[in-house]
Amino acid sequence: MTTATPLGLKLGEWFWKKRLQPHLFRRTAGDAHLETVRRLKQLQSMNALPLLRYLYRSSYYQMPLKVFGTEWGNPVGLAAGFDKQLEIIRALEALGFGSIEVGTIVPFPQFGNPEPRVFRYPDTLSICNRYGFNSDGVLVIAERASQLHRFGPRVAIPIGYSIGKNAWTPNERALGDYLLVLHALRNQLRPQDWVQVNISSPNTKDLLGLFRTIEEFLHGFTEGARNVAWKLWRPGEVNERGGSFPNRYVLKLPPDNMSPDMLYRIAETAARYEFAGLEEGNTTTSETLKHRYGIVDKDGVPEVGGASGEAVRELSTGVLRDLSGAAKRLRIDRVGVGGISAPKHALEKRAAGAQAVQLYSGLVFRGPGLVHEILEVWRK
Ligand code: FNR
Repeated sequence: MTTATPLGLKLGEWFWKKRLQPHLFRRTAGDAHLETVRRLKQLQSMNALPLLRYLYRSSYYQMPLKVFGTEWGNPVGLAAGFDKQLEIIRALEALGFGSIEVGTIVPFPQFGNPEPRVFRYPDTLSICNRYGFNSDGVLVIAERASQLHRFGPRVAIPIGYSIGKNAWTPNERALGDYLLVLHALRNQLRPQDWVQVNISSPNTKDLLGLFRTIEEFLHGFTEGARNVAWKLWRPGEVNERGGSFPNRYVLKLPPDNMSPDMLYRIAETAARYEFAGLEEGNTTTSETLKHRYGIVDKDGVPEVGGASGEAVRELSTGVLRDLSGAAKRLRIDRVGVGGISAPKHALEKRAAGAQAVQLYSGLVFRGPGLVHEILEVWRK
């Protein structure tokens, strides 16, 4: 398996700093993302992934560890939202991530919020987005997963499927959307994959309100999931990917308004319904943080949407710390996500109780070389 040599990494870093990033940053954040996905798809179809591995995949990329009861290739995962439509898994794997979360995936195709809906703030290493679950819909994405696993080399690392609801589905019927997506994906889930339940996006109206009745929601989800499973598979039966119905559910938490009491309630409920893990966290809507990190429009009004990157780092690391005691006692794994743009930030998440980390904004500002840098210090 190719990995970057010291020369390869240097070249990769040079190429990122001198060519790729300047090119991408001349475009709007939305266009830059579309172009990145298009280019990575091209590289996949041209079988040019050895080039990506040569330039970016860390020589430490094989650092297996158990997270959510499944084996990650290494402790640095790609957070949800980058590969929303499951199009560039192989390219992302070639960059050396230890796992990849795709989605968020919703039942029916939807455009999401009007453009522009994502903004970069390079001075403060922050991003603000209000995509609102733009999605090709679960049927298209399940078919893509099927193609991915049927043709070409095996994807070795686990895939987390982030699932959500359509914008027009009211919260009272949200459960149905989550179960529908799970149902449509059921035959594509391999033993090593997981399902991330996303009720923490601030960009779908009142989605976060589902936390108010978290016990009811997780009860309904687990019961529904079990029924979906029993209908299709008898105990012990496996699907065509070798997966049995997964008990590998993970809940992604927001960073805002998470008191220690609320965190305890969530951890306790997640444990009761045998969730494998918790992720902390999603983007923040804090206006104070938006002001502090310059996430404002030309009139100085905080931009609508969820802020990520440096703007959310301390907040989400603090919440992770508050969460970890209870979650550890209840044997629920924690993944730290929010604002990792340097190796020391990943170590801070580990010190706050995370077994592994995920990142998104750091990839935009620091490039794929960041994965190698984190792995280099994590192993010590
Ligand atoms: C996200 N994030 C996200 N999370 C999720 O569960 N489903 C999603 O669809 C998205 N979409 C999305 C789009 C964009 C443009 C960004 C920047 C982020 C949140 C992401 O996974 C992560 O939780 C936060 O961004 C915090 O991590 P970083 O970016 O600070 O490393």
